[in-house]
Amino acid sequence: MFTLCFLAAFNHWETTVSKQVHDVPVVGHDEPECNSSNNLFFSDVIERRIGRRALISGGVGLAVSTMIANSALAHDSHHHWTRRGRRDVSPGFTPVPHSSADTVIVPKGYSVQVIIPEGTPLTKTAAPYIPGDYNTGADRELQAGAHHDGMEYFPMFHGPAGNNHGLLCVNFENINLELIHPNGFTIESNGNRPVEDEVRKEIASHGVGVVEVAKYRGEWQVIKGRYNRRFTGNSPMEICGPVCGSDFVKTKYSPNGTLTRGTLNNCGSGRTPWGTYITNEENWAGYFFNTGVRPREQTRYGVPTAARSTYGWGTRAEDQYARFNTTPIANDASGDYRNETNGQGWAVEINPFEPNSIPKKRTALGRFAHEGAAFAPAKPGRPITVYMGDDSRGEYIYKYVSNKKYVPGKADGKLLDDGKLYVARFNADGTGVWILLEHGVNGLTTANGFTSQADVLVNTRTAADYVQATRMDRPEWTTVDEKTGYVYCTLTNNSNRGVAANQPVDAANPRAKNPDGHIIRWRETGDYHEATEFEWDVFVFGGPTLATVQALGSSDSVYQGNEQYAAQVFPGTDERAYLADTATFNSPDGLWAAPTGILWIQTDGYSNVTRGFANQQMLAADPETGDIRRFLTGPIGSELTGLTSTPDGKTLFVNIQHPEGASVWPNINGETRARSATLIITKDDGGIVGT
Ligand code: FEO
Ligand code: CA
Ligand code: CA
Repeated sequence: MFTLCFLAAFNHWETTVSKQVHDVPVVGHDEPECNSSNNLFFSDVIERRIGRRALISGGVGLAVSTMIANSALAHDSHHHWTRRGRRDVSPGFTPVPHSSADTVIVPKGYSVQVIIPEGTPLTKTAAPYIPGDYNTGADRELQAGAHHDGMEYFPMFHGPAGNNHGLLCVNFENINLELIHPNGFTIESNGNRPVEDEVRKEIASHGVGVVEVAKYRGEWQVIKGRYNRRFTGNSPMEICGPVCGSDFVKTKYSPNGTLTRGTLNNCGSGRTPWGTYITNEENWAGYFFNTGVRPREQTRYGVPTAARSTYGWGTRAEDQYARFNTTPIANDASGDYRNETNGQGWAVEINPFEPNSIPKKRTALGRFAHEGAAFAPAKPGRPITVYMGDDSRGEYIYKYVSNKKYVPGKADGKLLDDGKLYVARFNADGTGVWILLEHGVNGLTTANGFTSQADVLVNTRTAADYVQATRMDRPEWTTVDEKTGYVYCTLTNNSNRGVAANQPVDAANPRAKNPDGHIIRWRETGDYHEATEFEWDVFVFGGPTLATVQALGSSDSVYQGNEQYAAQVFPGTDERAYLADTATFNSPDGLWAAPTGILWIQTDGYSNVTRGFANQQMLAADPETGDIRRFLTGPIGSELTGLTSTPDGKTLFVNIQHPEGASVWPNINGETRARSATLIITKDDGGIVGT
């Protein structure tokens, strides 16, 4: 969601308002910047970066770093796009143009079906959706939630049948108040929420759905099977790993600190090597408030100080809502919800095939605004590795490495409770290091204010500040290309970069104001994902065409001083210096290196006709050649986010999140209330999607 700054909106709140929820960005995607650390490492960035490029081009290659002399990273300018793995397919479709239409457009030869729009009943006892969304909060607890985001498809059968029948796990990230309350909603001037069902419906519209889907006579449909479930912002969840049982998570609900309620702002997805789902809690801080003195595990994450700054759920007296007010009121933590925010900010494991299982918050993976969780391909006898972005301006990229080794058939979620959490530092010479966030190591000691590993994990951002990791331009999704070993991460944009004294440009985040974002990538030393050193470069910069930037000239100050940068990183004729109009995009977000070999890029940015941008889109990239083509454009006001496919790559599931404003998409049976939904995309000739 592309949102505006935070406080301005609240002047407009009145009792019984029904207004554009994007003026209520507290729990949107642009979490307030909370990183006041001063981790600055780079000066004369451009020279050094060019120096590295020149070094590579000159064939000296890895002389910059003897540590990787034996790695598979060696490449020179001629082989820059030649990787040792062979790909199956390349993007082969004719790109679609930018679009401002209120519809989904895909290339010629492709078809789209819409499934699971907001409100779809998911279980046998669920109430039917009432067009216009006149359903109650209780109804919504068994229906599809709002703001479809990350998702994964789990086949229910081995072999070809698995391509036609599976479980789809879908995140429901957020809500549009005016859309889920067609009769308006009530937020009083002090933030109070006098109508319980409004709050209940809002909380129920968040969370995760497990949905059985099957293809029958060419059409996919929802099966109300035994695995279907809804997890909401109120569902019981287990706290696992080093934080479990610590003082940080003791509450009135769970005095021994083992349980919490709800998962919130579920953003990108992940799938474990053992076949379970990972949902990631992103901008959870804004759902809470604390009118007292906030501890650092709240300030560093931007927990608001006033009820007015949230949906105000915590203003209600009932326990399941009052917990969103984390102001201490009792003698100790077992009598109130001062620790309630510490139950959020985690990667959460859900086993879709165990319908009675309770979701598990895997605290060893750190607490931040989790965008997604990308698992490196698991290798027998080696640890598992998970890559994760923290999406806020100036936050970090993390990875988790299990202490125990992966054993096929035996591995399970316990591998996520015992391991090492690292944060990335990107050096200006194109190398990088993973810095361990472990109590007693790297200065994370009691003397320096970290009392235990639970403390380090609850305060992951503070620990990363302490070890001087690299502040990035809003790390969104990560993905691992299993063919090449490359890991990619979208850095969506950062309007603060290089502005005033805050976050000067650095090698890995080289554009001031960074309006359009970029995609960074790295390879671990020796291609061992558990390695602690890596080599990185920029895969592509978002932005307009060169002709557009030149035509804008001084009329568009945001590009002043930036316009040469991409050309310096991508010298010569590399199209990624400036994208062709068939590939221009801004604000890359969703990202998936599919097993087919196509790197899918989804955007969550802005529309600006002068800069050549219209509705949000999805593009297919060939990581070998750098070819990028626009594959899909979405409806008005929506972002593209979340994608997965059947194992054969012939059915692609893609989410349309928050069509809004003038949008009436998907306009089912003439309904004009816009609804987030899942797209099912197939190639008419039955081939792999994207070819
Ligand atoms: Fe939920 Fe950073 O996107
Ligand atoms: Ca996102
Ligand atoms: Ca985003």
